[in-house]
Amino acid sequence: MPYTVPKLTDYSAATLERAANECLSACTAESREVRTDAGLKSFRDRWMARKNGILNQINDRWLKGAPQEAKREAGIQVNALKARITELVEGAHVSGAGALDNECLDISLPGTRRPLGAEHPVVRTSNEIVSVFAKLGYSVAEGPVVESDYYNFEALNFPPNHPARDTQDTLFIAGQQSKPPRERLLLRTHTSPVQIRTMEKMAPPVRLVIPGRVHRNDPPDASHSPMFHQIEGLAVDTNITFGDLKGTLDHAMKALFGSSVRTHFRPSFFPFTEPSAELYVTCFICGGSGKRGSDPCRPCKQTGWIEVLGCGMVDPNVFEFVKDNGYDPKRVSGFAFGMGVDRLALLKYGVDDIQLFFQGDVRFLQQFG
Ligand code: PHE
Repeated sequence: MPYTVPKLTDYSAATLERAANECLSACTAESREVRTDAGLKSFRDRWMARKNGILNQINDRWLKGAPQEAKREAGIQVNALKARITELVEGAHVSGAGALDNECLDISLPGTRRPLGAEHPVVRTSNEIVSVFAKLGYSVAEGPVVESDYYNFEALNFPPNHPARDTQDTLFIAGQQSKPPRERLLLRTHTSPVQIRTMEKMAPPVRLVIPGRVHRNDPPDASHSPMFHQIEGLAVDTNITFGDLKGTLDHAMKALFGSSVRTHFRPSFFPFTEPSAELYVTCFICGGSGKRGSDPCRPCKQTGWIEVLGCGMVDPNVFEFVKDNGYDPKRVSGFAFGMGVDRLALLKYGVDDIQLFFQGDVRFLQQFG
């Protein structure tokens, strides 16, 4: 029997409450039986219609019909009931098997495909370089991008106000004038500060590669970016020689660019290595001829050689900063190197603008998927 609004025998609180509860459970039961959109509409009309809907009838019979002295109590009960019924009716929805019929679920439609990501070319190049050294027994270390003057410069043998600092185009963190100079923060200009940080933590022997992000105040253009990536290398032990440096890097270049590349060391200067060198490899685009067919080879500027990194023997002055941790410059020696990952990725993938690496344009990145 569908629910109908009863006439109340009396208007006591108990009677009103019982009637309200019956009404509510009837409405709840009906709301669960809604199987179609049409059913939902008639359910709503039956309870809510302005003319002769159940709520309306309740208003007439239980409230307007109440004797004067019961009006207050009836008003409270009826209002509470109306709120509950309205909530139920508004929340009602098509359910059960009817719901499926109604939505016409087509299980033959393809699912939502999530496109697979791909390794960024810079990350991929970095991983390749790291894995060449991992096979030689090197472990991986990392350090902070926001660095102190002490680690980025001072402990790497850049004295305060030394002109070599100017070559690094440093981006400083603002508002630190009150700090002692060595504690002032900056964006690290190279991964070399992690040499000191790891030597502070690990006693020799160490063999490390350190990949990471670095910043310099260079305006962006096709070959410069204020943010780029480096991989640092550090090997310290007893009796490490420049011969070890050359042999290690020659092997690494052949592993990275193919066994036919040749390496070439030219003297250079870094405050934290002595002697220092720049490493060149035969251009892996033109094979060292400087020409591509009859055209000049652009990447090596027709020289047949490409500069890939800076390196050298760790300066004894650097060891002095970590002497108490087992790095007595009279007992240990080592070599270090640092290379620009983005530049190598540009050459490797034949990309002619470094900005493309950092603009996040999916059309560019998709080509590496
Ligand atoms: N840190 C140097 C640079 O950024 C590279 C380097 C690292 C040179 C280690 C020598 C030894 O230019």
